[in-house]
Amino acid sequence: MSNSKNKFYVTTPIYYVTAKPHLGSLYSTVLADISARWHKLLGSDVFFLTGTDEHGQKIAQAADHAGKNPKDFVDSFVGSYKTTWKQYQIEYDQFIRTTDHYHVKAVQAWLQRLIDQGDIYKSRYQGWYCTPDETFVTEKEYAAGATQVSCPSCGRDTQFVSEESYFFRLSNYQERLLDFYQANPNFIIPKEKINEVISFVQSGLKDLCISRSSISWGIAFPGDSKHVTYVWADALNNYITAVGYGDQNRALELAKWWPADLQILGKDILRFHAVYWPAFLMASNLPQPKHLLVHGWITVGNQKMSKSLGNVVDPDVLLAEYGSDQIRYYLASQLAVTHDSNFDLNILREILTADLANNLGNLLSRSNSLALKHNLATVHKPVNLHDKSQLVLELIKITAQNCDQLMQDCSYHMAVSEINRLVSRVNAYFHELEPWVLAKTNPDLFKEVIWTTCAALQSISTLFWPIMPSKMQELAARLCWAGDGSIASLCPKSGENLIDQIKTGHVASQFILQPGPALFVKYEKIEKIEIKAEELSVSEPIINYIDFEDFLKVELIVGTIEQCMQVPGSEKLLKMDVNFGDKGLKQVLSGIAKFYQPSDMIGRQGVFVYNLKPRKIMGYESNGMLLSVPDQDQLKLVSVAGIVPNGARLG
Ligand code: ME8
Ligand code: MG
Repeated sequence: MSNSKNKFYVTTPIYYVTAKPHLGSLYSTVLADISARWHKLLGSDVFFLTGTDEHGQKIAQAADHAGKNPKDFVDSFVGSYKTTWKQYQIEYDQFIRTTDHYHVKAVQAWLQRLIDQGDIYKSRYQGWYCTPDETFVTEKEYAAGATQVSCPSCGRDTQFVSEESYFFRLSNYQERLLDFYQANPNFIIPKEKINEVISFVQSGLKDLCISRSSISWGIAFPGDSKHVTYVWADALNNYITAVGYGDQNRALELAKWWPADLQILGKDILRFHAVYWPAFLMASNLPQPKHLLVHGWITVGNQKMSKSLGNVVDPDVLLAEYGSDQIRYYLASQLAVTHDSNFDLNILREILTADLANNLGNLLSRSNSLALKHNLATVHKPVNLHDKSQLVLELIKITAQNCDQLMQDCSYHMAVSEINRLVSRVNAYFHELEPWVLAKTNPDLFKEVIWTTCAALQSISTLFWPIMPSKMQELAARLCWAGDGSIASLCPKSGENLIDQIKTGHVASQFILQPGPALFVKYEKIEKIEIKAEELSVSEPIINYIDFEDFLKVELIVGTIEQCMQVPGSEKLLKMDVNFGDKGLKQVLSGIAKFYQPSDMIGRQGVFVYNLKPRKIMGYESNGMLLSVPDQDQLKLVSVAGIVPNGARLG
């Protein structure tokens, strides 16, 4: 990625505010923050945008369920995003809300421009709509005449809609899009993803519906009060409205920042960003973003973590338990950015212990405490250096070189490995030269080893600063390398390229060591992990998925009730003898006496959980459970259509 213009504009998706942020939204936002900070280290002028997506059917429905008007509903969550981002040291420059007045005005101006230039026409939309994804299912994605269609992206049921709509002439942009992908094969990171996009576009683009007339929570469509803007046509434009699009007075600002250098998103919203967004920009006569980073999903038990699935891991809980730098480190180092990765608490604990406490933390504490023990608080750069120390200095330069490349390519986890390798090598150097022996036998070499280790730690603290800003600042406070012996601030001053300085071997000539506690904590493995699935989504029912194997454990068997009587002393219970054919005769109790007479039951076939653990109720053993469904103030028995042999299993 080129940095020639010396500005860096990075964005995250704007999140639907139907709940508090979760680890998935934190992931994209932390990656953006790491990139923003890396580019600050490079001396660039950085602009980092994040925010919230607040219009559309999904939000309107969620607000309705919560009994609130949509604006009050979104207002109630925005604070939790801002708080979480602050706690995780996310230094965004702007937080856009799509309900912000300037955004609304700018989107209307954009639509008017497209209307004026003939890019928009009115027609009727008929087809399937996925509300959780706010997406129209394309005709290629379902069989003609289907009576129910699942969303090809998230798998949930979609609804049929038929409504008057405005359409954007997306089909007119098909060739220009294909030319753009061809001319910019590195547009998407990872590179291979572009093939998916190309084949989607090649298979033929239909015009895109960009208004809704059956909902009212959205940006009013210019000149037609029956319509609101389709939420994606509204949301995608946030990336330009935030930096001044649509406002004459902010033209210079727009020219300065747009195009974005890096737009970060999850693979769930690739099509919107790689097809619709570039087409919108073409229609607006604006340049394309330099790169899209399309990352994989954080999964829990190999399922995407999402608000609507209700299996989210709460960043607040992780923060309290592990700390913000540590979670940032986990996200950057453990998730290969372009793959899906399972969230694993034990891996988190393991790497915090191995990489941070035992490797980096140990290097600092062994070097500082040894030096201070021998009254070496002020460490000066030696005049001549031993070969092995020279080698460490060379390694620092090479690490900075490699790391810069990897960070600019968004290979965050590989950049972390590179830095960790340096930490290990310096630990090995320390171990090999045995400075605790040198302190007595060769004081000059002893001082040299301490200085060299400090020099490495100084560079490491800078290289790791974008990932662990406060821990690295703590590390700097233990080495005090500023000229006057004070704590150097790692936060770069604009224009100074700290990475170049490390690459060219610039190291402090003096350190003033400070004692202090261990930088990082060690964690034991947890034997039994329970991740609490929080009830966060109010917009859709929470599905607690089970594996097919779990389903197979439940034996649902058809049986005929041969005998039935009221349990003496109970108003609710009936006692039945059920014939399960080859599987024998069993006694089952059921709380249906208020709805059924014993005589209603005799001779009936029912569906039973056959392998439910036997238990005693009112002195009688029950060996199974009769299935029934409450329906208003009745209870209806589950049955099969027609008679089947007793003992038949459902499945
Ligand atoms: O799609 N793993 O908002 P959204 C990794 N408003 N990243 C995840 C994730 C997971 N399990 N779950 C969510 C929207 N994300 C639209 C975007 S942009 C103009 C409009 C991250 O709240 C990831 O970046 O559903 C994903 O693309 C985004 O959150 C979706 O957030
Ligand atoms: Mg989503």
